[in-house]
Amino acid sequence: MRINMVKSDEEPVFIRLEFHELPPEEMISRAQSFYDDMKKRRTSRHFSNRSVSRELIELAIRTAGTAPSGAHLQPWTFVAVSNPDLKSRIRDAAEEEERRFYEERIPEEWAEVLEPLGTDHIKEHITDAPWVVVMFRHSKRKRPNGKMAPTYYSQESCGIAAGLFISAIHNMGLSTLTHTPSPMGFLREILNRPDHEHAMLLLPVGFPSEEARVPDLVRKELDEMSKFYE
Ligand SMILES: Cc1cc2nc3c(=O)[nH]c(=O)nc-3n(C[C@H](O)[C@H](O)[C@H](O)COP(=O)(O)O)c2cc1C
Repeated sequence: MRINMVKSDEEPVFIRLEFHELPPEEMISRAQSFYDDMKKRRTSRHFSNRSVSRELIELAIRTAGTAPSGAHLQPWTFVAVSNPDLKSRIRDAAEEEERRFYEERIPEEWAEVLEPLGTDHIKEHITDAPWVVVMFRHSKRKRPNGKMAPTYYSQESCGIAAGLFISAIHNMGLSTLTHTPSPMGFLREILNRPDHEHAMLLLPVGFPSEEARVPDLVRKELDEMSKFYE
């Protein structure tokens, strides 16, 4: 495991925290410009097939891997797929599940909130985008003694890592879609992952197509999503 794992007979290793304090005016200007950029992020469902270098995908995964995680167990694997045959197989299986979801399984109250997004079971983004990154969450880990044991807060940890991945993609001038074909078990099989890894998100990454359109959504105002006690 890639951590300074403390064995029971060893002292934990600590290093000095690297922290560079910023002048107050720089803090506010960086906070403002980060927000100004992040508010331009949108989920794209229409991708161009323009290629994207593997280096950019690696950097997004490295950024995601900087996320905090419960007990530093880093309970994630990112599987990046550009192989066209594999993307086709993933698309076929995802569309099969999604067709059943949209035609047979979808509860009315779920349909009501998806309706404004205009989504359906056709998932051309999986084959159009040059990369599809599937994030797997580990529900178990191998202990130093070789036995399997649980991970802790893996949902929360992977959610944070996904947020960093999505932010990194936006920051590098690309687009992604947080796709959750339901259920996602087929991804473990197609991508050959072990039983304790659970596909959590399927993230096509690329440039949006020229004719990409997004729903005209409104985000909550600060006072609708926060409370301050001072
Ligand atoms: C956990 C999660 C699951 C999502 N699943 C899907 C999905 O399966 N299909 C889809 O088209 N969009 C999916 N989305 C994207 C949301 O619909 C989108 O983020 C939301 O409408 C807000 O739009 P924005 O990202 O452009 O701000 C998902 C987003 C999240 C965070």
